[in-house]
Order: sequence, then C-alpha cells, then structure tokens
Amino acid sequence: MSAAEELVGCRVVLRPFVVDDVPAVLTYASDPEVTRHLQWDAYDDPATAASFIRSTLGGGDTWFARAIVLRDTATVIGGADLRVVSPADRRAELGYGLARAYWGNGYATEAAGLLVRFGFDRLNLLRIQAACAVENERSIRTLERLGLRREGRLAQYRWKAGTARDLFLYAITRADWAAG
Ligand SMILES: CC(C)(COP(=O)(O)OP(=O)(O)OC[C@H]1O[C@@H](n2cnc3c(N)ncnc32)[C@H](O)[C@@H]1OP(=O)(O)O)[C@@H](O)C(=O)NCCC(=O)NCCS
Repeated sequence: MSAAEELVGCRVVLRPFVVDDVPAVLTYASDPEVTRHLQWDAYDDPATAASFIRSTLGGGDTWFARAIVLRDTATVIGGADLRVVSPADRRAELGYGLARAYWGNGYATEAAGLLVRFGFDRLNLLRIQAACAVENERSIRTLERLGLRREGRLAQYRWKAGTARDLFLYAITRADWAAG
C-alpha cells in the first residue's frame, strides 16, 4: 500500500491520516472510555493529535496506521493500524478504536477486516495478532468476529491507571484465514 492508497469496504474506507483530521482524532482520543483499555491515556491537546498524525505518515513499510472514514459522510470515526512487528517472521499486530458515538454498528469489524485482508494478501504475512485487555468485552467480540483465536493470557502485562492488567493474546494465521 503506498502512503496514499485507500482500502475500501462496504461502509468504511481506510485512508492515511491528514493534518485536518486533528479534531476528529481528538473526538476519540480525548475520551477516557475509548482509552480505558489502551496502552496510551486520553489527551485533549491538538498538538499531541497533530504529532500522532505526523508519526503515522512515517510508517513506511512496517506501520500502516489509517483513519477509519464513513463512506456516506466522509466522517472520520476512528483509527486502525497494522504494525509489522517482525518482518522476518511475517508477523504483525492489529489495533483499532472508534469514537464512542459509532460503537455498535460493525464499523471496527469492517475496518480491521480490511487490514487483515491487506496483511495477508498484500504484505504476505503469516500471522496477525492482537493483545486485548481481559475486561475489554467489546473488543474481544470484535476479534472473535474477525476470526482471531484466543491463544492465552498475558499476566500483568500492561500497567494502566495504577494497576497491572492482564491481556488476552489473540491471533489468526494465514492458513486459518485462507480456510475460512
Ligand atoms: C473495541 C471497539 C472498536 C468495538 O466497537 P464495536 O462497534 O462494538 O465493534 P464492531 O465494529 O465489531 O461492532 C460490532 C457490534 O455492532 C453490532 N452491529 C450493528 N450493526 C451491524 C452491522 N451492520 N454489521 C456488523 N455488526 C453490526 C454488532 O451486533 C455488534 O454488537 P455486539 O458486540 O453488542 O453484538 C470499541 O469499543 C472501541 O473503540 N473501544 C475503545 C478502543 C479499544 O478498546 N480498542 C481495542 C483495543 S484491543
């Protein structure tokens, strides 16, 4: 995928972030409900959003961070990313988040599904994984809808809000994906 290339689904498009997306990024990045289970904490500073957007533009061939945009309205509703954590092993990690107003419509499943297909079809990956807080029931359902399988529990893996949290490790292999 070149920096400008879009991944197009039925209802959403994934495209590179642009500087004008700062307000949309802040809509979800400033919401503690959105960041409750994430590695990073909520922020409401436009400079931080702009810096995040600039960082996504330098992802090269290993970090594909994209805005999730509704096709109907061109509204940016969230972000999704695929990070090739080990090129030699053809392994990547998946992440996603939506502004709360857009939860419950299947948009994250569609967006992440586009990245999974891109990862296997175009990047020739062997494995795509995701680490998800054990309390993050919505994301667990999303990962399972995508066909990722729970492989285990990562005990006390993430320090968040003063506590060590357990995460579930989920993954889908190229063979699983091709089968079905
Ligand atoms: C995780 C997160 C993206 C899940 O959002 P979501 O909207 O529930 O996820 P999906 O896109 O998979 O939507 C599925 C829901 O939409 C419903 N839905 C409604 N219309 C639908 C449609 N046309 N197609 C598919 N699903 C639809 C499904 O029934 C499902 O609801 P359910 O889980 O209550 O049964 C969201 O909670 C979020 O942004 N959380 C904060 C960030 C985060 O935790 N990221 C994950 C880190 S591991």
